[in-house]
Amino acid sequence: MIRDEILGYPVATPEIIAARRKELAVYGLTTIWDYGGAAIANQSVLGIGYVGVVVLVERAGQKLALKIRRTNIDKHSLIEEAHCLERANTVAIAPMVMQWSQNFILMEYIAGERFFDWLQRAAINSTKTEVWPVVVDLLEQSFRLDQLGLDRGDMNCVTNDVLMRAGQPVLIDFSRGSGDRRPQNVTALVQGLFWGSVMARYLTPFFPHCTKEILTPLLRNYKHQRNRANFDAILIAIAPMRKSLNKK
Ligand SMILES: Nc1ncnc2c1ncn2[C@@H]1O[C@H](COP(=O)(O)OP(=O)(O)OP(=O)(O)O)[C@@H](O)[C@H]1O
Ligand SMILES: [Mg+2]
Repeated sequence: MIRDEILGYPVATPEIIAARRKELAVYGLTTIWDYGGAAIANQSVLGIGYVGVVVLVERAGQKLALKIRRTNIDKHSLIEEAHCLERANTVAIAPMVMQWSQNFILMEYIAGERFFDWLQRAAINSTKTEVWPVVVDLLEQSFRLDQLGLDRGDMNCVTNDVLMRAGQPVLIDFSRGSGDRRPQNVTALVQGLFWGSVMARYLTPFFPHCTKEILTPLLRNYKHQRNRANFDAILIAIAPMRKSLNKK
């Protein structure tokens, strides 16, 4: 059984706990795993964010991730986030979302390390042959989201919101996603990766040519018209000859 401290994190009345237990009963979860890199009341959890607590659970023998809405946030429901995930899933992005309601999202569990941890190690141990394809993959995913008209939000700092699974980046956390804004996934990601966030320091040695001066005019063109040709111009500037690199 899931602990009250997790179900109603950080504080909840007995009424809230009871209502949440009832809401969760229909999910048919069989196990709550004591597993993950964070902890609440001596129980490990996969993560604690501003919006939710995420725990590893099991249903019908399958390990899944359950996001539980924190009790002390303005956001009244996780349903909008689940809808963003559902849309992203149509273009093979984000953990597959299985079931949701006001206070919960049940989704695919991504067994992987944080992008930032991977990047810090890659900066020491990896070559551009390993790093470039990951960056290109993230850019392609961002382009697919732009095409879909879904702005994920917070794309300029994906240190915690990309998990590396089997060498491939998986975008998680669509809590600030919206279909009502002009999508800025590609432009925010590029700025964050190469000069606008803590990631830049680790990526610059692999991408010394990715300066603000070179990329800004290309980003401006793309902002003006978010089409494949303008996106390709950005890709070519960031990872020239990437196709031959992948073949090696
Ligand atoms: N599907 C998943 N599989 C594995 N781990 C996950 C999954 N979803 C979330 N996590 C872990 O839980 C953490 C918190 O999840 P998430 O980022 O969705 O919460 P949040 O409250 O919206 O975060 P933020 O503080 O960024 O708003 C993540 O950083 C990640 O470590
Ligand atoms: Mg997050």
